[in-house]
This record gives sequence, structure tokens and C-alpha cells, in this order.
Amino acid sequence: PPRLLQFKLVLLGESAVGKSSLVLRFVKDQFDDYRESTIGAAFLTQTVSLDESTTVKFEIWDTAGQERYKSLAPMYYRNANCAVVVYDITQPSSLEKAKAWIRELQRQADPNIIIALAGNKADLASRRAVPSEEAQAYASEENLLFLETSAKDNANVSELFTMIARKLPLE
Ligand code: GTP
Ligand code: MG
Repeated sequence: PPRLLQFKLVLLGESAVGKSSLVLRFVKDQFDDYRESTIGAAFLTQTVSLDESTTVKFEIWDTAGQERYKSLAPMYYRNANCAVVVYDITQPSSLEKAKAWIRELQRQADPNIIIALAGNKADLASRRAVPSEEAQAYASEENLLFLETSAKDNANVSELFTMIARKLPLE
């Protein structure tokens, strides 16, 4: 049987960018048009099979993006192995918020944390307000993984988590 390696993953980002929707797509392959804002945080798990000898189990903390929960975040990122910081490609302010989370992670989280930036709602192409090149350039400068995703259309969701799994220490 494949070996099972477990890692803690935290999702961060402004409220309504689609953190819970990405997790719901990844874990249950579902999407809701009317998703309730997360209270506190939610915990879910999902495995990714990398090859016949290795399965990665993600223990996922889906944090609440509303400002009133901001002080809880360190509890979830403190011992995280990886983080997905999400913004909404139709909301430039959500990329600014994502950058603030990334700075906080770079200062306060484990120095070996793997950080991925996800530009979600890529299905809303006609309302795009953040060029992918701009986010990609920022991600390259900061050494982050980067993908644009759509929880709604199931675009690049499993790819995002697999890309992270491949960067984890699988010794
Ligand atoms: P908080 O829990 O408040 O931090 O928000 P969140 O980041 O978890 O956002 P959530 O997943 O609840 O999604 C917010 C809204 O965006 C919901 O109405 C979703 O249906 C919608 N949404 C999420 N992902 C996508 C997507 O990829 N495309 C589109 N069009 N809508 C999306
Ligand atoms: Mg949520």
C-alpha cells in the first residue's frame, strides 16, 4: 500500500473570495451559489494520490475571512505546513488583502511553509479586474505557487492541491 503523509493546510483570504467553495469542490466535488460565510473556521480532510507509492492527506483549516475573526488566524497558520491565500480576480482589493496575509505568513508562520496564491472566480472573465500577469509576477517575486481557479467551474482546483503536495517534503 502507498505510504500516507499528513500535512496541515490553512486557507486565508478576504471574506467571499471563495475559500470554502474551493475546499467544498476539492473535498466533495460540490458547489453552492449561496454559500454561508464561515464562522470561526471549518476543518476538513482530503487525500491526493501522487503516485503508487505516496498519498498525501491534507488536514485543512478553512478560516473565516470576516474582519472580526482576524485574530484567530495565527492559531490556524502557526503549525501549518502549507497555506492557500485566495483572492477574487474581479476584486483588486482582495489581492491587496492576500498580499497582507502573505506578508504575515512570511513573518509569523513556519519559515518552511509552502504558500500558494489562488486567483479564484476565473469563470467571471468578463468582470476580471486583476490581470493574471500582475498576480503571476508578484507570486514569482515572492516565491509563491500561483494558479487561477474556479470553484464554480471546477477549474484548477485539484491541480492547486496537487501542485502543493508535490512541493511538500516527501522524504
Ligand atoms: P468567508 O467564509 O466569509 O471568509 O468567505 P469564503 O472565502 O469562504 O467565500 P465562499 O466560499 O463562501 O464564497 C463566497 C461567494 O462566492 C459564494 O456566493 C460562492 O458561491 C461564490 N463563489 C465561490 N467561488 C466561486 C467561483 O469560482 N466562481 C464564482 N462565480 N463564484 C464563486
Ligand atoms: Mg468560508
